[in-house]
Parts: sequence; C-alpha cells; structure tokens
Amino acid sequence: MKPTKATITFDNDAKSIELPMLSGTAGNDVIDIRSLGKHGVFTYDPGFMSTAACQSNITFIDGEKGLLHYCGYPIEQLAEHCNFLEVSYLLMHGELPNTAQINDFTGIISSHTMLHDQLSNIFRGFRRDAHPMAVMIGVVGSMSAFYFDAMDVYNPQHRAISAHRLLAKIPTIAAWSYKYNLGQPFMHPKNKLNYAENFIHMMFATPCEEYTPNPVLARAFEKILILHADHEQNASTSTVRLVGSSGANPFASIAAGIASLWGPAHGGANEATLQMLEEIGDVSRIDEFIKRAKDKTDSFRLMGFGHRVYRNMDPRAAIMRKTCHEVLNELGLQDDPMFKLAMELEKIALEDEYFVSRKLYPNVDFYSGIVMRAMGIPNSMFTAIFALARTAGWIAQWSEMNADPEHKIGRPRQLYTGETRREFVPIDKRA
Ligand code: CMC
Repeated sequence: MKPTKATITFDNDAKSIELPMLSGTAGNDVIDIRSLGKHGVFTYDPGFMSTAACQSNITFIDGEKGLLHYCGYPIEQLAEHCNFLEVSYLLMHGELPNTAQINDFTGIISSHTMLHDQLSNIFRGFRRDAHPMAVMIGVVGSMSAFYFDAMDVYNPQHRAISAHRLLAKIPTIAAWSYKYNLGQPFMHPKNKLNYAENFIHMMFATPCEEYTPNPVLARAFEKILILHADHEQNASTSTVRLVGSSGANPFASIAAGIASLWGPAHGGANEATLQMLEEIGDVSRIDEFIKRAKDKTDSFRLMGFGHRVYRNMDPRAAIMRKTCHEVLNELGLQDDPMFKLAMELEKIALEDEYFVSRKLYPNVDFYSGIVMRAMGIPNSMFTAIFALARTAGWIAQWSEMNADPEHKIGRPRQLYTGETRREFVPIDKRA
C-alpha cells in the first residue's frame, strides 16, 4: 500500500510535521510540502533534483527504465507512425487527432506560416554573423510587438491563437536566421509541403532553382522534431513556465525558453558534440580526449554523453542511432572521416569502465548532431532546430500551466548565507 502521509521529525524538541503524499498516474509519489513554510522551514534542492514543481498531463519519463511517453504514447510508436503536426496536436490537446482534426489543424498551421513583413527588418538589424539562437531569441521576443491582438493568457482562445502562430512561424524564423547568416534571400514558406519539408525548403532552396527535399532526409528530420518535441520539466520548459507564471505573454515566455535551451548542458549539446568531434579531428586522438573527460582537474566533458534523467538509456538516442545509419547510407557517407570518428568514439565510450559505471551513454544529441551534419545543416543551426521542435512542447506546457487553477507565480525561497544585519559605514570610514 502506498503511504498517504510523510512525517518530518527534528533532532531537537521541535514538533514533528505531518505532510500529505500525492500520487500521479505514473512515476514517483511526491510529498506535498506546500504547508512547510508556515512551520518556519523550507526545503533545499539546488537544480531541482528532487522537486516536482507542477503537475502535468503531457510527458512522462522513467529515467531508470529508459521510457519516454507523450500523453501516454511511447516515443518509439510516435516516431515510427506520426508526423510532427500530429505529435504537436497530441501535446496541445492530449489526444491524437482523427483525420478531420489533423486536416483542420494542418490547415490552421499553414495559414499562419508567413511572418509579418516588418519582422524581416528585425532580422536585418542583426550582424550577419550573429548566432541563429541569438537571432531567434530576439525575433520570437519581438513577436509580442506584432501579434498582440490575442495575448490574454487567461483566455483559452487567445492561448490557442498564439500557440498556432508560434508553431507555424518558428520554422520560418529558424530558417531565416540561417539565410540571413548566409546573405541569401529569405525563402517564404510553401504550404503544399509538409512541416519538415517546408523547413528544409526554406533552409536550402533559393529563388533561382527548383528544390525538392529528399524524402529520406525529410523523414529523418521529422523524427528529430518528434524526438525533441517535449521532455517533461527540463531547464527550458521550466523556464517557460517560470516566466509565464507571472502572466508574461507567450512570445516573451518562449523567447526565454530558447535562451535557456542555448546552454551547452542542455540544447547546445548537439552543436558542442560536433565542435568536439572537429577538435578531436582524428581517431588516433580519441584516447587523449577520453583521458581528459575522466580527469577531474579538466573541465572537458564528452559532449553528447550522459543525461540528468536517463541513467540507463536515452530511448530517443536508440531511435536516432538507427536514423543516423539510414541517413549516412542514403548519402553514402559511411566512410566519411568525421562520421567514422563519431562511431569509434561511441564504441570506445560504451566499453570504457568510467562511462559504463557512471551510466554515461550517448544521448539523443550525439546522434541528432551527426544526422544534421550529414544533411548539410551547419553546426550553428543545431540548437535552433532543437528550439523549433521544442516549441511544440513549450506551448503545450505554457497553455497547461495557464489553464491550471492551482498555478501560482513561481517564487522559490533560499537558504541565505550572506551577512546578517550590520550598520551603514560612511565611505571615508570604510576599510
Ligand atoms: N563526460 C565526462 N564525465 C561526465 C559526463 C560527460 N559528458 N557527464 C557526466 N560525467 C560525470 C561527472 O563528472 C560525474 O562524475 P563523478 O561522479 O566522478 O564526479 C558523474 O558523471 C555524474 O555527473 P553529473 O554532473 O552529476 O550529472 P548531471 O546529471 O548533473 O549532468 C549532464 C547531466 C547532461 C549535464 C552531463 O552528463 C553533461 O554535461 N553531459 C554533456 C552535455 C550533454 O550532452 N548534454 C545534453 C543532454 S541531452 C539533451 C537534453 O535533454 O537537454
């Protein structure tokens, strides 16, 4: 039988505190500590290692078993059978769409893919060599200056309109941040293409030539989008929720999520993986880098390895590994030195005692970085593509939070370790 109460006892005469326990439909039970503050104590949990900050119906992860479910559906089944818009609909509505619903949803998203023409001027204000993530943070944030007709976060219809706008426009924004880097004309969306093909078209087509996306690569890209669409309460999703918890508008909240995703310990890992492979340069240097990764005096880590939650296997990595081989075969790149190096590194790390004992396996970003590199996508766009995919999850989580009657402004407490009260010292008396 599951416990329904937990008791905190203290090693002095202080009265013990009884706290209720809550159970979800799956995963760890939680101790409801909301009343603790009234007893004059807080909990201390830097990095939220043991803290459930919200309740959610969207994504379930079991890190020990290597499970990832969106609204109850295993990621393997969704990646195999769905397209990205079906998965986005699932995240936003909690159910897979039927034929009429997906046709309707696809129509709505297609009708929002264009950007307001003035937004192209925002791109032009950036340096040409600006990182696409920097541009995306700026452009998505500036959407609140363009699409403010439906920004009442407590109105479900307004939330839906903003969600559709974000999902529809984010591929255009990501692709344009690349085109701007290159100095090529912006390509407008082509609504007869599907979501993944449309993005590839806006990335690689030019107005001068006909361009047809390769279907194997488009499907591989769609899998990258599906696998990255949501991932429970990770750093960027928690950021979106925290920013949104104050009633901030959806564009500001998602821009903050993109900023959080940019860090190399989170979404920046796929870009960092390719940078690391370039730095290693040759199979003969792998040992040297493995030694560095184990050396506690060296800050170097093997990028694309390890995960905060998945301690045995990242289920997304298994799917992406297979896709990675399909893409390398399709493009005849099996013997490319960079990809051989990646495969050798994977093999060595999987057998090395340091990595095995710490359960540090290649994560999804190790393989997605390799796939995107093979597709001709530059390293600097990897995290931007992660942001494009994760927008589906961010808006679903942001909407869920705003609809939740229990939601409150996020306001963590602290363990204060600074000076206690002292008297002001005039400047001429200070040491
Ligand atoms: N290379 C070498 N050692 C590592 C690595 C690594 N990539 N990751 C963890 N370790 C070691 C770490 O030094 C520690 O060793 P010890 O116990 O001897 O002190 C042990 O493994 C546990 O590490 P941790 O830092 O406590 O683990 P964490 O849960 O805080 O960190 C992580 C998780 C993903 C930030 C980390 O594994 C990492 O930095 N990996 C590389 C970056 C990366 O690939 N990130 C993408 C994650 S997947 C995308 C996403 O979902 O956002």
